Amino acid sequence: TPLLFGSVFTVSLSLCLPLRVPPVRIQPEQVHLSYPGSDPKSIVVTWTTFNKTDSVVEYGLCGGKLFESVAEGSSTLFVDGGKEKRKLYIHRVTLTGLKPGFTYVYHCGSSTGWSDLFAFKAVREDTDWSPRFAAFGDMGNENPQSLGRLQKETQLGMYDAILHIGDFAYDMHEPNHTIKTSFKQATQSTSNYYPRTICPGSHAVSFNFSNYRNRFSMPGDTQGLWYSWNIGPAHIISFSTEVYFYLKFGQDLIFRQYEWLKRDLEEANKPENRRLRPWIITMGHRPMYCSNNDHDDCTSVLSYVRVGRLDTTPPAPGLENLFYQYGVDLELWAHEHTYERLWPVNNTKVFNGSKDQPYVNPKAPVHITTGSAGCREKHDSFIPKPKEWSAFRNSDYGYLRMQILNSTHLHLEQVSDDQDGKVIDDTWLIKDKHGAAAWL
Ligand SMILES: *[C@@H]1O[C@H](CO)[C@@H](O)[C@H](O)[C@H]1NC(C)=O
Ligand SMILES: *[C@@H]1O[C@H](CO)[C@@H](O)[C@H](O)[C@H]1NC(C)=O
Ligand SMILES: *[C@@H]1O[C@H](CO)[C@@H](O)[C@H](O)[C@H]1NC(C)=O
Ligand SMILES: *[C@@H]1O[C@H](CO)[C@@H](O)[C@H](O)[C@H]1NC(C)=O
Ligand SMILES: *[C@@H]1O[C@H](CO)[C@@H](O)[C@H](O)[C@H]1NC(C)=O
Ligand SMILES: *[C@@H]1O[C@H](CO)[C@@H](O)[C@H](O)[C@H]1NC(C)=O
Repeated sequence: TPLLFGSVFTVSLSLCLPLRVPPVRIQPEQVHLSYPGSDPKSIVVTWTTFNKTDSVVEYGLCGGKLFESVAEGSSTLFVDGGKEKRKLYIHRVTLTGLKPGFTYVYHCGSSTGWSDLFAFKAVREDTDWSPRFAAFGDMGNENPQSLGRLQKETQLGMYDAILHIGDFAYDMHEPNHTIKTSFKQATQSTSNYYPRTICPGSHAVSFNFSNYRNRFSMPGDTQGLWYSWNIGPAHIISFSTEVYFYLKFGQDLIFRQYEWLKRDLEEANKPENRRLRPWIITMGHRPMYCSNNDHDDCTSVLSYVRVGRLDTTPPAPGLENLFYQYGVDLELWAHEHTYERLWPVNNTKVFNGSKDQPYVNPKAPVHITTGSAGCREKHDSFIPKPKEWSAFRNSDYGYLRMQILNSTHLHLEQVSDDQDGKVIDDTWLIKDKHGAAAWL
Protein backbone atom coordinates (compact mmCIF):
# COMPACT_ATOMS: atom_id res chain seq x y z
CA THR A 1 0.00 0.00 0.00
CA PRO A 2 1.09 3.57 -0.49
CA LEU A 3 1.40 4.00 3.25
CA LEU A 4 3.77 1.10 3.60
CA PHE A 5 5.92 2.33 0.75
CA GLY A 6 5.99 5.72 2.37
CA SER A 7 7.20 4.46 5.68
CA VAL A 8 9.85 2.17 4.18
CA PHE A 9 11.13 5.10 2.22
CA THR A 10 11.23 7.32 5.29
CA VAL A 11 13.11 4.72 7.29
CA SER A 12 15.71 4.06 4.62
CA LEU A 13 16.18 7.76 3.97
CA SER A 14 16.79 8.53 7.62
CA LEU A 15 19.27 5.65 7.81
CA CYS A 16 21.19 7.11 4.89
CA LEU A 17 21.33 10.70 5.98
CA PRO A 18 23.93 10.58 8.76
CA LEU A 19 26.46 8.88 6.49
CA ARG A 20 27.26 12.17 4.66
CA VAL A 21 28.60 10.56 1.50
CA PRO A 22 31.05 12.99 -0.15
CA PRO A 23 29.66 14.28 -3.43
CA VAL A 24 30.78 12.26 -6.40
CA ARG A 25 31.14 14.50 -9.41
CA ILE A 26 30.97 12.39 -12.47
CA GLN A 27 29.06 14.68 -14.80
CA PRO A 28 31.10 15.92 -17.78
CA GLU A 29 31.80 19.66 -17.68
CA GLN A 30 33.66 22.15 -19.84
CA VAL A 31 33.21 20.18 -23.03
CA HIS A 32 35.15 21.59 -25.95
CA LEU A 33 36.45 20.64 -29.36
CA SER A 34 39.81 21.19 -30.97
CA TYR A 35 41.70 20.09 -34.05
CA PRO A 36 44.52 17.64 -33.39
CA GLY A 37 46.58 19.37 -36.08
CA SER A 38 47.72 17.36 -39.04
CA ASP A 39 44.65 15.22 -39.75
CA PRO A 40 41.61 17.21 -40.88
CA LYS A 41 39.42 14.11 -40.56
CA SER A 42 39.93 14.07 -36.79
CA ILE A 43 38.63 16.14 -33.93
CA VAL A 44 39.43 16.00 -30.21
CA VAL A 45 36.69 16.20 -27.60
CA THR A 46 38.00 17.36 -24.20
CA TRP A 47 36.07 17.60 -20.95
CA THR A 48 36.47 17.56 -17.18
CA THR A 49 35.07 15.50 -14.33
CA PHE A 50 35.97 15.85 -10.68
CA ASN A 51 35.93 12.12 -10.01
CA LYS A 52 37.50 9.50 -12.20
CA THR A 53 35.27 8.04 -14.89
CA ASP A 54 35.72 6.38 -18.26
CA SER A 55 36.22 8.61 -21.34
CA VAL A 56 33.72 7.88 -24.06
CA VAL A 57 32.19 9.82 -26.97
CA GLU A 58 29.10 8.43 -28.67
CA TYR A 59 28.36 10.08 -31.99
CA GLY A 60 26.76 9.76 -35.38
CA LEU A 61 25.96 11.68 -38.53
CA CYS A 62 23.22 14.25 -38.13
CA GLY A 63 20.01 12.78 -39.50
CA GLY A 64 21.41 9.25 -39.18
CA LYS A 65 21.24 6.85 -36.29
CA LEU A 66 22.08 8.60 -33.03
CA PHE A 67 25.22 7.33 -31.26
CA GLU A 68 26.01 4.89 -34.03
CA SER A 69 29.73 5.19 -33.37
CA VAL A 70 31.67 4.99 -30.15
CA ALA A 71 35.17 6.25 -29.47
CA GLU A 72 37.12 5.81 -26.29
CA GLY A 73 39.98 7.81 -24.90
CA SER A 74 41.59 8.36 -21.56
CA SER A 75 41.82 10.86 -18.76
CA THR A 76 44.74 12.46 -16.99
CA LEU A 77 44.71 13.71 -13.43
CA PHE A 78 45.42 17.42 -13.18
CA VAL A 79 46.13 18.92 -9.77
CA ASP A 80 45.60 22.65 -9.83
CA GLY A 81 48.32 24.83 -8.31
CA GLY A 82 45.88 26.79 -6.11
CA LYS A 83 45.57 26.44 -2.35
CA GLU A 84 42.77 23.91 -2.60
CA LYS A 85 44.92 21.64 -4.81
CA ARG A 86 41.79 20.68 -6.63
CA LYS A 87 41.89 17.43 -8.54
CA LEU A 88 40.40 17.34 -11.98
CA TYR A 89 40.26 14.56 -14.51
CA ILE A 90 40.79 15.85 -18.02
CA HIS A 91 39.29 13.51 -20.59
CA ARG A 92 40.37 13.39 -24.21
CA VAL A 93 38.83 11.36 -26.98
CA THR A 94 39.89 11.67 -30.62
CA LEU A 95 37.26 11.01 -33.27
CA THR A 96 38.89 9.85 -36.49
CA GLY A 97 37.78 9.10 -40.02
CA LEU A 98 35.15 11.86 -40.06
CA LYS A 99 33.47 12.71 -43.35
CA PRO A 100 34.65 16.19 -44.36
CA GLY A 101 31.83 18.73 -44.48
CA PHE A 102 29.31 16.50 -42.68
CA THR A 103 27.61 17.39 -39.40
CA TYR A 104 27.85 15.05 -36.44
CA VAL A 105 25.84 14.87 -33.24
CA TYR A 106 27.62 13.72 -30.10
CA HIS A 107 27.63 13.48 -26.37
CA CYS A 108 30.54 12.64 -24.12
CA GLY A 109 31.06 11.16 -20.67
CA SER A 110 30.60 7.58 -19.54
CA SER A 111 27.84 5.25 -18.43
CA THR A 112 27.81 7.14 -15.12
CA GLY A 113 26.96 10.50 -16.67
CA TRP A 114 26.60 12.07 -20.11
CA SER A 115 26.89 15.62 -21.38
CA ASP A 116 24.11 17.36 -23.25
CA LEU A 117 23.81 16.66 -26.93
CA PHE A 118 26.08 18.80 -29.13
CA ALA A 119 26.84 18.97 -32.82
CA PHE A 120 29.79 19.93 -34.99
CA LYS A 121 30.66 20.00 -38.65
CA ALA A 122 33.74 18.08 -39.76
CA VAL A 123 36.12 20.45 -41.51
CA ARG A 124 36.64 20.18 -45.26
CA GLU A 125 39.95 18.71 -46.31
CA ASP A 126 40.46 20.59 -49.54
CA THR A 127 41.78 24.14 -49.80
CA ASP A 128 39.21 25.48 -52.25
CA TRP A 129 36.58 26.85 -49.86
CA SER A 130 36.00 29.94 -47.73
CA PRO A 131 36.40 29.33 -43.99
CA ARG A 132 34.77 31.75 -41.56
CA PHE A 133 36.13 32.63 -38.13
CA ALA A 134 35.23 34.55 -35.04
CA ALA A 135 38.37 36.00 -33.46
CA PHE A 136 38.70 37.77 -30.14
CA GLY A 137 40.71 37.88 -26.97
CA ASP A 138 40.18 38.75 -23.37
CA MET A 139 36.77 37.29 -22.72
CA GLY A 140 36.33 36.11 -19.17
CA ASN A 141 33.74 34.79 -16.84
CA GLU A 142 32.71 38.17 -15.45
CA ASN A 143 31.42 40.81 -17.85
CA PRO A 144 31.64 38.61 -20.98
CA GLN A 145 29.83 41.22 -23.06
CA SER A 146 30.04 39.51 -26.46
CA LEU A 147 29.25 36.03 -25.23
CA GLY A 148 25.52 35.89 -25.94
CA ARG A 149 25.99 37.12 -29.47
CA LEU A 150 28.86 34.69 -30.11
CA GLN A 151 26.89 31.78 -28.68
CA LYS A 152 23.97 32.49 -30.94
CA GLU A 153 26.15 33.00 -34.01
CA THR A 154 27.98 29.73 -33.42
CA GLN A 155 24.67 27.94 -33.00
CA LEU A 156 23.49 29.54 -36.24
CA GLY A 157 26.48 27.94 -37.94
CA MET A 158 28.22 31.17 -38.85
CA TYR A 159 31.77 29.97 -38.15
CA ASP A 160 34.10 27.13 -38.94
CA ALA A 161 36.48 27.85 -36.08
CA ILE A 162 36.96 30.19 -33.15
CA LEU A 163 40.28 31.93 -32.64
CA HIS A 164 40.60 32.88 -29.00
CA ILE A 165 43.61 35.18 -28.87
CA GLY A 166 44.45 34.57 -25.23
CA ASP A 167 42.95 35.33 -21.83
CA PHE A 168 39.86 33.44 -20.83
CA ALA A 169 40.12 33.21 -17.04
CA TYR A 170 40.96 36.15 -14.85
CA ASP A 171 40.96 34.48 -11.46
CA MET A 172 43.67 31.86 -11.78
CA HIS A 173 46.11 33.75 -9.59
CA GLU A 174 43.68 34.18 -6.70
CA PRO A 175 44.39 32.20 -3.52
CA ASN A 176 41.50 29.78 -3.81
CA HIS A 177 40.46 30.54 -7.29
CA THR A 178 37.44 28.98 -8.89
CA ILE A 179 38.63 28.77 -12.43
CA LYS A 180 36.09 26.11 -13.02
CA THR A 181 33.53 28.71 -13.91
CA SER A 182 35.89 30.60 -16.16
CA PHE A 183 36.83 27.46 -17.97
CA LYS A 184 33.22 26.61 -18.34
CA GLN A 185 32.64 29.96 -19.96
CA ALA A 186 35.73 29.66 -22.11
CA THR A 187 34.83 26.25 -23.38
CA GLN A 188 31.25 25.22 -23.21
CA SER A 189 29.93 28.54 -24.44
CA THR A 190 30.90 28.25 -28.06
CA SER A 191 33.45 25.58 -28.63
CA ASN A 192 31.38 22.50 -28.10
CA TYR A 193 30.00 23.39 -31.51
CA TYR A 194 33.12 24.57 -33.30
CA PRO A 195 36.75 23.85 -32.72
CA ARG A 196 38.52 26.56 -30.88
CA THR A 197 42.16 27.38 -31.04
CA ILE A 198 43.56 29.41 -28.25
CA CYS A 199 46.96 30.89 -27.55
CA PRO A 200 48.51 31.56 -24.15
CA GLY A 201 47.50 34.88 -22.65
CA SER A 202 48.99 36.95 -19.91
CA HIS A 203 46.39 35.77 -17.42
CA ALA A 204 47.25 32.14 -18.13
CA VAL A 205 50.59 32.54 -16.40
CA SER A 206 49.54 31.24 -12.97
CA PHE A 207 51.32 28.08 -11.90
CA ASN A 208 53.56 28.10 -14.95
CA PHE A 209 50.66 28.10 -17.44
CA SER A 210 49.65 24.68 -16.16
CA ASN A 211 45.91 25.23 -16.44
CA TYR A 212 46.29 26.44 -20.00
CA ARG A 213 48.64 23.62 -20.93
CA ASN A 214 46.74 20.80 -19.27
CA ARG A 215 43.10 21.64 -19.68
CA PHE A 216 42.94 22.37 -23.39
CA SER A 217 44.02 20.06 -26.21
CA MET A 218 45.83 22.22 -28.71
CA PRO A 219 47.80 20.64 -31.55
CA GLY A 220 51.54 20.00 -31.50
CA ASP A 221 53.84 18.77 -28.79
CA THR A 222 54.18 21.89 -26.61
CA GLN A 223 50.79 21.65 -24.88
CA GLY A 224 49.62 24.61 -26.92
CA LEU A 225 52.48 27.01 -26.26
CA TRP A 226 53.07 27.18 -30.01
CA TYR A 227 51.51 25.27 -32.89
CA SER A 228 50.11 25.68 -36.37
CA TRP A 229 47.31 24.17 -38.41
CA ASN A 230 45.74 24.44 -41.84
CA ILE A 231 42.19 25.29 -42.75
CA GLY A 232 41.03 25.90 -46.32
CA PRO A 233 43.46 28.25 -48.07
CA ALA A 234 45.13 29.31 -44.81
CA HIS A 235 47.98 28.31 -42.56
CA ILE A 236 47.36 29.58 -39.03
CA ILE A 237 50.15 29.95 -36.49
CA SER A 238 49.50 30.38 -32.78
CA PHE A 239 52.36 31.32 -30.49
CA SER A 240 53.10 32.65 -27.03
CA THR A 241 54.01 36.28 -26.55
CA GLU A 242 54.26 35.49 -22.84
CA VAL A 243 57.68 33.89 -23.29
CA TYR A 244 59.04 37.46 -23.63
CA PHE A 245 57.66 38.50 -20.25
CA TYR A 246 57.93 35.56 -17.87
CA LEU A 247 61.62 34.75 -18.14
CA LYS A 248 61.40 32.86 -14.85
CA PHE A 249 59.65 30.03 -16.65
CA GLY A 250 62.52 29.63 -19.05
CA GLN A 251 64.35 32.19 -21.13
CA ASP A 252 65.14 29.37 -23.54
CA LEU A 253 61.46 29.33 -24.52
CA ILE A 254 61.93 32.55 -26.52
CA PHE A 255 64.67 30.90 -28.58
CA ARG A 256 62.92 27.56 -28.92
CA GLN A 257 59.76 29.27 -30.08
CA TYR A 258 61.69 31.47 -32.50
CA GLU A 259 63.42 28.47 -34.06
CA TRP A 260 60.12 26.61 -34.30
CA LEU A 261 58.43 29.61 -35.92
CA LYS A 262 61.24 29.86 -38.43
CA ARG A 263 60.98 26.18 -39.36
CA ASP A 264 57.20 26.33 -39.56
CA LEU A 265 57.27 29.45 -41.76
CA GLU A 266 59.95 27.89 -43.95
CA GLU A 267 57.74 24.85 -44.51
CA ALA A 268 54.59 26.90 -45.10
CA ASN A 269 56.51 29.01 -47.61
CA LYS A 270 57.63 26.14 -49.79
CA PRO A 271 56.12 26.98 -53.17
CA GLU A 272 53.97 23.83 -53.26
CA ASN A 273 52.54 24.66 -49.82
CA ARG A 274 52.06 28.39 -50.31
CA ARG A 275 50.31 27.72 -53.63
CA LEU A 276 47.72 25.57 -51.84
CA ARG A 277 47.51 27.76 -48.73
CA PRO A 278 48.52 31.27 -49.73
CA TRP A 279 47.33 32.96 -46.53
CA ILE A 280 49.60 32.87 -43.51
CA ILE A 281 47.91 34.29 -40.43
CA THR A 282 49.43 34.53 -36.96
CA MET A 283 47.73 34.87 -33.59
CA GLY A 284 49.55 35.99 -30.46
CA HIS A 285 48.22 37.64 -27.34
CA ARG A 286 50.22 40.86 -26.84
CA PRO A 287 50.47 43.17 -29.86
CA MET A 288 53.62 44.73 -31.29
CA TYR A 289 51.84 48.04 -31.82
CA CYS A 290 48.98 49.80 -30.07
CA SER A 291 47.96 53.33 -29.30
CA ASN A 292 46.58 52.70 -25.82
CA ASN A 293 47.59 54.75 -22.80
CA ASP A 294 48.26 51.94 -20.34
CA HIS A 295 52.06 51.56 -20.62
CA ASP A 296 51.77 48.00 -21.94
CA ASP A 297 54.61 46.59 -24.04
CA CYS A 298 52.95 47.67 -27.30
CA THR A 299 52.94 51.32 -26.23
CA SER A 300 56.73 51.25 -26.29
CA VAL A 301 58.41 51.93 -29.61
CA LEU A 302 60.77 49.06 -28.80
CA SER A 303 58.18 46.48 -27.85
CA TYR A 304 59.70 43.15 -26.74
CA VAL A 305 57.41 41.20 -29.04
CA ARG A 306 58.38 43.35 -32.00
CA VAL A 307 62.13 43.82 -31.60
CA GLY A 308 63.02 41.29 -28.92
CA ARG A 309 64.88 41.71 -25.65
CA LEU A 310 68.33 43.19 -25.53
CA ASP A 311 68.62 42.67 -21.77
CA THR A 312 68.95 38.89 -21.93
CA THR A 313 72.14 36.93 -22.64
CA PRO A 314 72.25 36.31 -25.49
CA PRO A 315 69.79 38.98 -26.68
CA ALA A 316 66.42 37.44 -27.62
CA PRO A 317 65.08 38.03 -31.13
CA GLY A 318 61.73 39.74 -31.73
CA LEU A 319 59.18 38.65 -34.26
CA GLU A 320 58.48 41.53 -36.63
CA ASN A 321 61.35 40.93 -38.99
CA LEU A 322 60.78 37.17 -39.03
CA PHE A 323 57.13 37.60 -39.99
CA TYR A 324 58.06 40.21 -42.59
CA GLN A 325 60.73 38.00 -44.15
CA TYR A 326 58.34 35.09 -44.57
CA GLY A 327 55.55 37.21 -45.95
CA VAL A 328 53.00 36.76 -43.16
CA ASP A 329 49.78 38.34 -44.48
CA LEU A 330 47.87 39.10 -41.31
CA GLU A 331 48.78 39.29 -37.62
CA LEU A 332 45.97 39.04 -35.06
CA TRP A 333 46.43 40.25 -31.49
CA ALA A 334 44.44 41.01 -28.33
CA HIS A 335 45.47 41.96 -24.74
CA GLU A 336 44.44 45.60 -25.20
CA HIS A 337 40.75 45.74 -24.37
CA THR A 338 40.02 47.70 -27.51
CA TYR A 339 39.98 47.29 -31.28
CA GLU A 340 42.68 48.74 -33.52
CA ARG A 341 43.44 48.24 -37.21
CA LEU A 342 46.80 49.26 -38.62
CA TRP A 343 47.89 50.29 -42.10
CA PRO A 344 50.35 47.77 -43.50
CA VAL A 345 53.41 48.31 -41.33
CA ASN A 346 57.00 47.25 -40.76
CA ASN A 347 59.49 48.87 -38.44
CA THR A 348 56.91 51.58 -37.58
CA LYS A 349 56.77 52.68 -41.22
CA VAL A 350 53.56 52.48 -43.23
CA PHE A 351 53.72 50.41 -46.43
CA ASN A 352 50.34 50.98 -48.08
CA GLY A 353 49.55 49.07 -51.27
CA SER A 354 48.77 52.48 -52.70
CA LYS A 355 47.56 55.72 -51.19
CA ASP A 356 43.96 55.06 -52.30
CA GLN A 357 43.90 51.33 -51.72
CA PRO A 358 46.22 50.61 -48.81
CA TYR A 359 45.06 47.00 -48.41
CA VAL A 360 45.26 46.06 -52.09
CA ASN A 361 48.64 44.41 -52.48
CA PRO A 362 50.02 45.88 -49.25
CA LYS A 363 53.79 46.03 -48.97
CA ALA A 364 54.00 44.77 -45.38
CA PRO A 365 51.93 42.65 -42.95
CA VAL A 366 48.59 43.96 -41.65
CA HIS A 367 47.97 43.98 -37.89
CA ILE A 368 44.60 43.85 -36.13
CA THR A 369 44.12 43.95 -32.34
CA THR A 370 40.76 42.69 -31.13
CA GLY A 371 40.84 42.27 -27.37
CA SER A 372 37.55 43.72 -26.22
CA ALA A 373 35.20 40.74 -26.13
CA GLY A 374 34.51 41.59 -22.49
CA CYS A 375 36.15 40.76 -19.18
CA ARG A 376 36.17 42.01 -15.62
CA GLU A 377 38.94 44.50 -16.36
CA LYS A 378 36.55 46.32 -18.72
CA HIS A 379 37.93 48.70 -21.38
CA ASP A 380 41.33 50.22 -21.99
CA SER A 381 41.77 53.78 -23.24
CA PHE A 382 43.65 55.36 -26.12
CA ILE A 383 46.19 58.15 -26.32
CA PRO A 384 44.67 61.19 -28.03
CA LYS A 385 46.99 61.33 -31.04
CA PRO A 386 47.92 57.96 -32.52
CA LYS A 387 50.97 57.37 -34.73
CA GLU A 388 50.58 57.33 -38.49
CA TRP A 389 50.34 53.52 -38.62
CA SER A 390 47.03 53.55 -36.73
CA ALA A 391 44.15 53.36 -39.21
CA PHE A 392 41.06 52.86 -37.04
CA ARG A 393 40.38 52.54 -33.29
CA ASN A 394 37.31 51.80 -31.24
CA SER A 395 36.72 50.78 -27.65
CA ASP A 396 33.28 49.14 -27.88
CA TYR A 397 32.97 45.61 -26.61
CA GLY A 398 33.01 43.25 -29.59
CA TYR A 399 34.85 40.75 -31.73
CA LEU A 400 36.19 40.19 -35.22
CA ARG A 401 34.63 38.17 -38.01
CA MET A 402 37.02 36.95 -40.66
CA GLN A 403 36.28 35.14 -43.86
CA ILE A 404 38.95 33.94 -46.25
CA LEU A 405 37.05 34.01 -49.52
CA ASN A 406 39.74 32.62 -51.78
CA SER A 407 43.41 32.98 -52.58
CA THR A 408 43.13 36.72 -53.22
CA HIS A 409 40.35 38.06 -50.96
CA LEU A 410 40.06 38.14 -47.18
CA HIS A 411 37.22 39.97 -45.41
CA LEU A 412 37.42 41.47 -41.91
CA GLU A 413 34.50 42.87 -39.92
CA GLN A 414 34.68 44.16 -36.36
CA VAL A 415 31.32 43.71 -34.62
CA SER A 416 30.26 46.05 -31.82
CA ASP A 417 28.32 44.37 -29.07
CA ASP A 418 27.54 47.78 -27.57
CA GLN A 419 25.86 48.79 -30.82
CA ASP A 420 23.72 45.70 -31.04
CA GLY A 421 25.89 43.77 -33.45
CA LYS A 422 26.65 46.63 -35.82
CA VAL A 423 29.74 46.18 -38.01
CA ILE A 424 31.88 49.17 -37.08
CA ASP A 425 34.87 48.40 -39.28
CA ASP A 426 34.82 46.61 -42.61
CA THR A 427 38.04 45.86 -44.48
CA TRP A 428 39.02 43.79 -47.49
CA LEU A 429 42.59 42.57 -47.69
CA ILE A 430 43.33 41.81 -51.34
CA LYS A 431 46.50 40.16 -52.54
CA ASP A 432 47.44 38.96 -56.00
CA LYS A 433 50.71 37.67 -54.61
CA HIS A 434 51.70 36.20 -51.25
CA GLY A 435 55.07 35.69 -49.62
CA ALA A 436 57.97 38.09 -49.20
CA ALA A 437 58.00 38.70 -52.95
CA ALA A 438 54.69 40.54 -52.53
CA TRP A 439 56.43 43.31 -50.57
CA LEU A 440 58.63 44.33 -53.50
C1 LIG B 1 35.25 12.30 -5.64
O1 LIG B 1 36.06 13.45 -5.60
C2 LIG B 1 36.06 14.11 -4.35
C3 LIG B 1 36.85 15.41 -4.54
O2 LIG B 1 38.13 15.17 -5.08
C4 LIG B 1 36.66 13.20 -3.30
O3 LIG B 1 36.61 13.82 -2.04
C5 LIG B 1 35.85 11.89 -3.26
O4 LIG B 1 36.46 10.98 -2.38
C6 LIG B 1 35.76 11.26 -4.64
N1 LIG B 1 34.85 10.14 -4.57
C7 LIG B 1 35.12 8.97 -5.16
C8 LIG B 1 34.09 7.91 -5.02
O5 LIG B 1 36.15 8.79 -5.79
C1 LIG C 1 38.57 31.65 -0.18
O1 LIG C 1 37.64 30.74 0.38
C2 LIG C 1 37.16 31.12 1.66
C3 LIG C 1 36.32 29.99 2.21
O2 LIG C 1 35.48 29.43 1.23
C4 LIG C 1 36.37 32.42 1.53
O3 LIG C 1 35.90 32.83 2.80
C5 LIG C 1 37.31 33.49 0.98
O4 LIG C 1 36.59 34.68 0.74
C6 LIG C 1 37.94 33.03 -0.34
N1 LIG C 1 38.95 33.97 -0.76
C7 LIG C 1 38.92 34.55 -1.96
C8 LIG C 1 40.06 35.49 -2.24
O5 LIG C 1 38.07 34.33 -2.78
C1 LIG D 1 57.32 25.25 -16.40
O1 LIG D 1 56.76 24.17 -17.16
C2 LIG D 1 57.60 23.69 -18.18
C3 LIG D 1 56.82 22.68 -19.01
O2 LIG D 1 56.31 21.68 -18.23
C4 LIG D 1 58.85 23.08 -17.56
O3 LIG D 1 59.69 22.62 -18.59
C5 LIG D 1 59.56 24.16 -16.77
O4 LIG D 1 60.67 23.58 -16.11
C6 LIG D 1 58.62 24.78 -15.75
N1 LIG D 1 59.32 25.91 -15.17
C7 LIG D 1 59.23 26.22 -13.87
C8 LIG D 1 60.03 27.37 -13.42
O5 LIG D 1 58.52 25.58 -13.12
C1 LIG E 1 61.27 45.38 -41.15
O1 LIG E 1 61.35 45.64 -39.76
C2 LIG E 1 62.52 45.13 -39.11
C3 LIG E 1 62.44 45.53 -37.64
O2 LIG E 1 61.42 44.87 -37.00
C4 LIG E 1 63.77 45.69 -39.74
O3 LIG E 1 64.90 45.09 -39.15
C5 LIG E 1 63.76 45.40 -41.23
O4 LIG E 1 64.88 46.03 -41.82
C6 LIG E 1 62.50 45.95 -41.85
N1 LIG E 1 62.48 45.62 -43.26
C7 LIG E 1 62.25 46.53 -44.19
C8 LIG E 1 62.37 46.07 -45.60
O5 LIG E 1 61.93 47.66 -43.92
C1 LIG F 1 48.00 54.98 -46.14
O1 LIG F 1 46.70 55.01 -46.68
C2 LIG F 1 45.75 55.74 -45.95
C3 LIG F 1 44.39 55.59 -46.64
O2 LIG F 1 44.43 56.03 -47.93
C4 LIG F 1 46.15 57.20 -45.83
O3 LIG F 1 45.22 57.89 -45.04
C5 LIG F 1 47.53 57.28 -45.19
O4 LIG F 1 47.98 58.60 -45.17
C6 LIG F 1 48.51 56.41 -45.98
N1 LIG F 1 49.78 56.43 -45.29
C7 LIG F 1 50.93 56.65 -45.92
C8 LIG F 1 52.14 56.74 -45.09
O5 LIG F 1 50.97 56.77 -47.13
C1 LIG G 1 37.96 35.95 -54.99
O1 LIG G 1 36.69 36.45 -54.66
C2 LIG G 1 36.49 37.80 -55.11
C3 LIG G 1 35.18 38.27 -54.56
O2 LIG G 1 34.15 37.42 -54.91
C4 LIG G 1 36.56 37.84 -56.62
O3 LIG G 1 36.38 39.17 -57.07
C5 LIG G 1 37.93 37.32 -57.06
O4 LIG G 1 38.00 37.28 -58.47
C6 LIG G 1 38.18 35.94 -56.49
N1 LIG G 1 39.56 35.57 -56.76
C7 LIG G 1 39.86 34.42 -57.34
C8 LIG G 1 41.32 34.13 -57.54
O5 LIG G 1 39.02 33.62 -57.69
